[in-house]
Amino acid sequence: MSVAQGRDFLSIPGPTVVPDQVLNAMHRPAIDIYSGSLVGVTDDCLRSLKQVFQTQGQVYIYAANGHGAWEAALSNTLCKGDTVLVLESGLFAKSWGESGVVQGLKPITVTSDWRNPADFHTAAEILRDDKDHKIKAVLTVQVDTASGVVNDVSKLRGLLDDADHPALLMVDCIASLGTMPFKMDEWGIDVAITGSQKGLMLPPGLSFVAANDRAKAIHKTADLRTHYWDWTFRDGPEHYMKYCGTPPEHMMFGLHCALDMLLTEGLEAAFERHRLLADAVRAAVSVWGESGLMELNIVSPEARANSVTTIALAEGRSPQLLLDWCEKNAAVKLGITIGELHNKGFRIGHMGYVNAPMILGTLGVIETALHALKWPVGSSGVAAAAGLLGKSLSKANL
Ligand SMILES: Cc1ncc(COP(=O)(O)O)c(C=O)c1O
Repeated sequence: MSVAQGRDFLSIPGPTVVPDQVLNAMHRPAIDIYSGSLVGVTDDCLRSLKQVFQTQGQVYIYAANGHGAWEAALSNTLCKGDTVLVLESGLFAKSWGESGVVQGLKPITVTSDWRNPADFHTAAEILRDDKDHKIKAVLTVQVDTASGVVNDVSKLRGLLDDADHPALLMVDCIASLGTMPFKMDEWGIDVAITGSQKGLMLPPGLSFVAANDRAKAIHKTADLRTHYWDWTFRDGPEHYMKYCGTPPEHMMFGLHCALDMLLTEGLEAAFERHRLLADAVRAAVSVWGESGLMELNIVSPEARANSVTTIALAEGRSPQLLLDWCEKNAAVKLGITIGELHNKGFRIGHMGYVNAPMILGTLGVIETALHALKWPVGSSGVAAAAGLLGKSLSKANL
């Protein structure tokens, strides 16, 4: 017996659900790469990406995943032997710093307990003490997809300025862009990176790096530059140079459509949608947690991301049992926990192309699984989520 037949529900925090419109935009024959519509598509996408990053800086498009964007950011701005300050708040800033070791960089990592935002206080002390300015860049993430935390990256420029420190400020907004405010120029961020497969509603395979004038100036003396990532080559006059070779044209048609969808909805409306749906998820988990069965991994409510929720299960409860039940019996694929949180809980992705039935459906299946597994459910988390959404939306137009 199963109730799985029907559309599969992907509820992991990336890759996320790709809208049919985007898939359809990609479903076309290959075209010329030197002339015709692709040239305009590139220009449109670069313009829209600037809007999404909220920058007047330069955006670069890479046929690569997020790891590629990490490498692009480092190799274009740094020199072998440079020190970088990494503000850990889960798996991803840490991994970004570690990835630089192969390039000859020396990361200093400000550690965290994965339940709270990055430790800006310690970071400020390290920057103040670095009188010789050995630290050349500060690396952090806006949302860490493993822990589910959001870091207030708008505060980091102030930290650097207070320490009178010239390090570049680099932010990974792979799990946040398009889901919450990100203001690259206003917040004084020098380099920002993101990927196609989360809030931007595309399949994995593209990543984007935005660089301001300061980063572009420092780029001129960086000695980690390599041909494929190199901003100077990509600033060249020919269309193919923007991609350092054949453009990933089908992905570009998909991106064109996805950015159009996002900007037509409106960034603010998209952020509000993410906030409401994340609130619904958190309301459900909080109710399920009343029995001691689970809790939201991130301690402080204002530090919980609107794109992903990481849930810690009580000791002795097998997350795999829950995940398997949901997938086999109800076609909902939930996210595993990763890194230090591996096997300690599960994650619900709520970013990109998600709406109320998708989130309420996922929550409904989790609650069904809790009943089926005879885990202590207490009251209904789904009712709490629906109640919260109903109350929040009651003022909306009919
Ligand atoms: C915040 C963040 N940064 C970086 C990455 C790495 O991206 P990719 O897996 O596309 O290389 C991920 C992937 O989930 C992520 O969530």
